Amino acid sequence: MTETMRIPGRRFLHSPGPTHVPDEVRDAIGRQPMDLADPRVDRLIADCEAGLKALVGSPGAEIFMAASNGHGAWEMAIQNLAAPGQTVLVPGTGHFSESWAVQAEAMGLNVRRTPWREGHAIDIGAVEQALREDRAHQIVAVFAVHTDTASGITSDLAALRDALRASGHPALFVADVVASLAAAPFDMDALGVDAAIGASQKGLMLPPGLAFVAAGPRAVQAALRNPTPRFYFDWVRRRSEISYRKFCGTPPMNLLMGLQAALKLIDAEGLEAVVRRHRQLAGAVHAAVAAWSEGGALDFFAREPAERSVSVTAVQVRQGIDPEALRRVARERFQVAIAGGLGPLAGRVFRIGHLGDLNPAMVLGCLGGVEAALRVQGVEIGGDGLARAAAALAAA
Ligand SMILES: Cc1ncc(COP(=O)(O)O)c(C=O)c1O
Repeated sequence: MTETMRIPGRRFLHSPGPTHVPDEVRDAIGRQPMDLADPRVDRLIADCEAGLKALVGSPGAEIFMAASNGHGAWEMAIQNLAAPGQTVLVPGTGHFSESWAVQAEAMGLNVRRTPWREGHAIDIGAVEQALREDRAHQIVAVFAVHTDTASGITSDLAALRDALRASGHPALFVADVVASLAAAPFDMDALGVDAAIGASQKGLMLPPGLAFVAAGPRAVQAALRNPTPRFYFDWVRRRSEISYRKFCGTPPMNLLMGLQAALKLIDAEGLEAVVRRHRQLAGAVHAAVAAWSEGGALDFFAREPAERSVSVTAVQVRQGIDPEALRRVARERFQVAIAGGLGPLAGRVFRIGHLGDLNPAMVLGCLGGVEAALRVQGVEIGGDGLARAAAALAAA
């Protein structure tokens, strides 16, 4: 089949970002941009800022949005919250904690890491110990990934907050909620998070290209004191009423129009309902994976059921099964796009994304395509995954 051939029906996008973009958001993005002096640009930005503050649960936060992907938002946090030569603590979650750590090192920070135990969430005890051992308070911030999209594991931010408090350490608490926002429960103020990092292409249901940091007062103060030379992502420069300065140049208006529409959809559904829907859809995926795993060839990568993400499930395959070949069959023959393994998990897992603008029928369709691809590839699957998923949805 050639790439230009029309595929009847819809392709199912079940990567854990980019995710399916709802029609309302696509329509909004397709509108004409505006001239920079149009007051509607300011209103659009103000609307997005207010919506993001409500979404992260921090009415007092300052929102710094940028035309960038999630790596840009990491960079924004690194540059504003720590200076070269200063130290940050990065609790191990797998591929994404390590990528953030490497980026921080490249930008001149010293990074201390807590070890990542494969298949598990952040080791809270190790974080508390690292903070207690840092009697000189060299660590200026803890950079924690809430949901590591590569492993499909969500860490306990409340436990992390308690560890920070118990240690009496003044480090900033910075959370990457790129893969968990608008999917798993997250309440920045209740969790004592000083800065939360998000990106457009996951639970926010937008195309990639817009990212943000929600910064609480301690984070803003740290940025104001921070002597690091910086420009594009500089919060001091971006703390302005003028939209051109807020974005250090022309705001990405169409993505902002899309964000405004997406925030409206989330608000109309209700955040609690959004979280519940994600839990139910994840339950269906987990039921299917549990059934398939009975065949002995597949298993959950996340060892603890309670740590399995509501956004994405990483399924490990026994040696000899090629997850990339499986993905190709799922994509090209059954029109279901799933993700592969990243970093140390390359070739060892495939991942099913189940976040964003999804409903039960879409998830069942995805699981049907994956199951068909597993059969084509001759992977031993045990129980009837689709039937179990449908039963889980019926019981939810
Ligand atoms: C948890 C997490 N953080 C950061 C990133 C980096 O985002 P981006 O790929 O948009 O740069 C990702 C991307 O998947 C992610 O899942």
